[in-house]
Amino acid sequence: MLIKREQRIILAGDDIAASEITPRAVFENRRRVLQAAGAASLAAAGGVLGMSRAAFGAYASPNPKAQKLAAATNAKFVVPEKVTPYQDVTTYNNFYEFGTGKSDPSENAGTLRPHPWRVSVEGEVKNPKVYDIDELLKLAPLEERVYRHRCVEGWSMVIPWVGYPLAELIKRVQPTSNAKFVQFITLADPSQMPGIADPILNWPYSEGLRMDEAVNPLTLLTMGVYGQVLPNQNGAPIRVVLPWKYGFKSAKSIVKIRFVDKQPPTSWNAYAPNEYGFYSNVNPTVDHPRWSQATERRIGEDGFFQPKRKTLMFNGYGNLVASMYQGMDLRKYF
Ligand code: MTE
Repeated sequence: MLIKREQRIILAGDDIAASEITPRAVFENRRRVLQAAGAASLAAAGGVLGMSRAAFGAYASPNPKAQKLAAATNAKFVVPEKVTPYQDVTTYNNFYEFGTGKSDPSENAGTLRPHPWRVSVEGEVKNPKVYDIDELLKLAPLEERVYRHRCVEGWSMVIPWVGYPLAELIKRVQPTSNAKFVQFITLADPSQMPGIADPILNWPYSEGLRMDEAVNPLTLLTMGVYGQVLPNQNGAPIRVVLPWKYGFKSAKSIVKIRFVDKQPPTSWNAYAPNEYGFYSNVNPTVDHPRWSQATERRIGEDGFFQPKRKTLMFNGYGNLVASMYQGMDLRKYF
C-alpha cells in the first residue's frame, strides 16, 4: 500500500515511480505456463476436476525446503493467463508488519512462527471454536486455484493459491441470524513482527466482508501457494484471498475470524477513509483519489516498452460477484 508520506513516489497520478519498484529477476518459466495452459484445456474437456495436483504437477516444488501441500486443481477457477513467477510472488509483497518496502516481508518475515498456530472463530455463531492450523488444513479438501491478484497500487499478478472456500468453515460454525459481517484479525506480535513498532496502521491489521461476500465461492481460505505451504511473507500459515477486490482486503496471518452484526472497522479504511473503502472491489471506472485505476502493471511483464494492461471490472470475476452489488452506487461504496 502507498502511505501518504510516500506520496512523492506517485508519477503523473497513475503509477508508481521506478525507484519504488524493487529490481527483480524476471523469470520466463515456459514449462509452467505450458502446463497451466494444458490444465486449462484439459479442464475445458471436462477431465480435470478431482484429479490430484501431483498428477498434474503444474506448479510443483518451487522451493525444495518448503512443505508440500497436495491439492486438486479446481479448473473452474484457473485464469488462462501466464502465472507470475514464484520469485516475484514471494519477494514483491505488502505485509507492513514486516516493513513497508516491497522486499521487506521476504527479508524480515523469517521471525514469524507459523506453527503452532490457532485461529479463534467467534462472535455471532452457534459453534464458536478455536481451531488449530493442522485441523484447518484438513477441514475440507484443498484446491489449487489460479487467481488474478490486483493491488490497489496498480500492479497485478496471477497466483496459484491452495485453500478451500471460506464457506466450508462458515457452515461448520453456523452463523446466527445476527451475523451480517465477518471480521478478520491478524497477528500483531512485536516479538515476531518488527514492523509493528511503526504505528502506521492500527494494529492488529483488520479486514472485513459482508456475509454474502464471505460465503461467495470465490472467497478462498488460503494455506498455500505454488503447491506448498504459504511462505511467511505471503501470510503464513493462513490468510484469505478475494480476487475481485483490491489486495489489501486479503488479510494475512489471521488469528481471529469474528462474526458481527455491524460493519467492522478495517485498518486501511481507518487510516484514510476517502482512499480505501470498505468494499474495495476492483473497479477501473472509480479512481483512487491520487491515481487512476484504469490500467495495471503485470508483475513479471514489466519491460520498458511493455504496455500496461486494462484493469477489468471486478478484476474479471463479474460473472461470480456482480450480482452482490446490484443497485449499489459503486462510487459511494468504493
Ligand atoms: N495482511 C496483513 N496482515 N498486513 C498487510 O500489510 N497487506 C495487504 C494484504 N494483506 C497486508 C495484508 C496488501 S496491501 C496486499 S496487496 C496483499 O496483502 C499482498 O499480498 P501478497 O504479498 O501475498 O501479494
